[in-house]
Amino acid sequence: MHRDCESIVLREEEIAARVKEAAAWLDARFFGTVPVAVCNLKGSVVFFCDLLRAMRTDTEMDFMAVSSYGDETVAAGRPKIKKQLFSSVEGRDVILVEDIVDTGRTLVTLRKFFEERRVRSLTVVALLDKPARRKVNVSADFTCFTVGDAFVVGYGLDYAEKYRDLPYLAVLKRSVYEH
Ligand code: IMP
Repeated sequence: MHRDCESIVLREEEIAARVKEAAAWLDARFFGTVPVAVCNLKGSVVFFCDLLRAMRTDTEMDFMAVSSYGDETVAAGRPKIKKQLFSSVEGRDVILVEDIVDTGRTLVTLRKFFEERRVRSLTVVALLDKPARRKVNVSADFTCFTVGDAFVVGYGLDYAEKYRDLPYLAVLKRSVYEH
């Protein structure tokens, strides 16, 4: 385990097994169609790649970025769309891939974004859910794991841009971000 981490929350094998289940769930909905899978950068990128490669359904990929964090562990407020999609999604089935639903504000912003673009359907898949920290009433359609309110890193999730490359999910030591 990385020296800045306190404990491992989810091991690589546990994540891989659950990602397969998420992929099967999406295949059951979408096989035979070509949905657009949207990765909300950067935290979802590892999950996104593993998920799409575990699916049998053909997908197109697109990317966007929404951020509410600086280099902090507490959301700074209203999420802002920092990067728009490359292609039009009007009339398309969209699978939005999220790393974590925390306060829920990012997901509310994204749901509104896709509604305004008149997608045919929107399905949200989240790797993690932190229901204890929810500030708005929103949830993903498929959640891989529910976690407590500790700050977690790895498997795409960062603290100040670090730890995204860890293959597991771990709780960061408080001493790393409390100076
Ligand atoms: P929300 O808008 O509060 O739901 O925040 C969602 C975003 O906050 C996620 O997409 C993450 O990028 C970030 N985030 C929330 N909790 C954590 C965490 O424990 N570790 C890393 N990033 C987190």
